[in-house]
Amino acid sequence: MGENARELIQALAQGKRLSTAEYLHILNEANDQDRELARDLANRMRIAQYGDGIFIRGLVEFTNFCKNDCFYCGIRRSNQDAVRYRLTLSQIMECLEQGYAAGFRTLVLQGGEDVFFTDGKMCEIVTSIKLRHPDVAVTLSLGERSYGSYRRLREAGADRYLLRHETAAEWHYAKLHPPVQQLATRLECLRNLKALGYQVGCGMMVGSPYQTAECLAADLSFIQEFRPQMVGLGPFIPHHSTPFAKQPPGSVETTLLLLSLVRLTLPKVLLPATTALATLHPKGRLMGILAGANVIMPNLSPVSQRNHYSLYDNKANSGAEAAEGLAILSRELETIHCHIVIGRGDAPNPLISN
Ligand code: 5AD
Repeated sequence: MGENARELIQALAQGKRLSTAEYLHILNEANDQDRELARDLANRMRIAQYGDGIFIRGLVEFTNFCKNDCFYCGIRRSNQDAVRYRLTLSQIMECLEQGYAAGFRTLVLQGGEDVFFTDGKMCEIVTSIKLRHPDVAVTLSLGERSYGSYRRLREAGADRYLLRHETAAEWHYAKLHPPVQQLATRLECLRNLKALGYQVGCGMMVGSPYQTAECLAADLSFIQEFRPQMVGLGPFIPHHSTPFAKQPPGSVETTLLLLSLVRLTLPKVLLPATTALATLHPKGRLMGILAGANVIMPNLSPVSQRNHYSLYDNKANSGAEAAEGLAILSRELETIHCHIVIGRGDAPNPLISN
């Protein structure tokens, strides 16, 4: 059986598509050696596609108000303990200037689903960024909005959109979200974003409550089918004032295996080594890169607000995780013979035109 997992990993590295059952077989049967093989092949695949370069994205967490009530998330509507904040346009522009000076050429605007930020307000923000620095790619991560809203934002100049699908199994989606939130809606948003010409990112947490290997196999199958340009994938980490406070965190090992399998499935994918991974392990970022990740998203939010964007406990936000810490990140990357790329960091063309 173990040998079979090895063969499936090798087949994936050679460009074969896998069935959900085959992904499941890898997840259930891969031994330590197989996992090491997956990381090694994925790391080689990263280097073959992107060389030694690691892309950086400046993350601006511009609002932690949220109308949703996801059971896992620290900024869910029902969390009365959360200290809520919104950045003003001029605060966002300050983040942009600082980031630009530091070398960031992608700004990721991430927030809860905050009704304050209407299409008009969001378009003003996107337009202002593009006017000031036309060479900066704008990534939005604002959750579910209508087709018309996504269209207006795209027309205002937004380039990319991150919207994790969270889990591809409907029953599992219902364990993580209240009934008003539906997987079908999420998937429709993802399809709309693609149709509008955004570079799109989906993704999931690893080790979220009730998740089974079957869920992760379905996630991998979905990713293979949907062919997103980006995949956001990190371990679940409990937050003390959510219904999942007492749940154990996801495993670093399994997260690395998933990163590898995603890189092997979509060779050109833009794949961040996430903050959640860096939070669970001091070497998480580097381990992520050595398992196939090629993007890091340091935090550009104002230091005074940073602690309030608390999706999970002990979220890393200083040192190499922070935009001020690019020098630290740079030195960390040198230890694995990688370097930061200054530039928009788009995926190579065949994938973008998907
Ligand atoms: N642990 C890990 N990741 C989380 N996210 C939200 N809450 C948590 C948590 N407790 C992730 C979700 C969301 C992204 C912005 O952060 O997957 O899509």
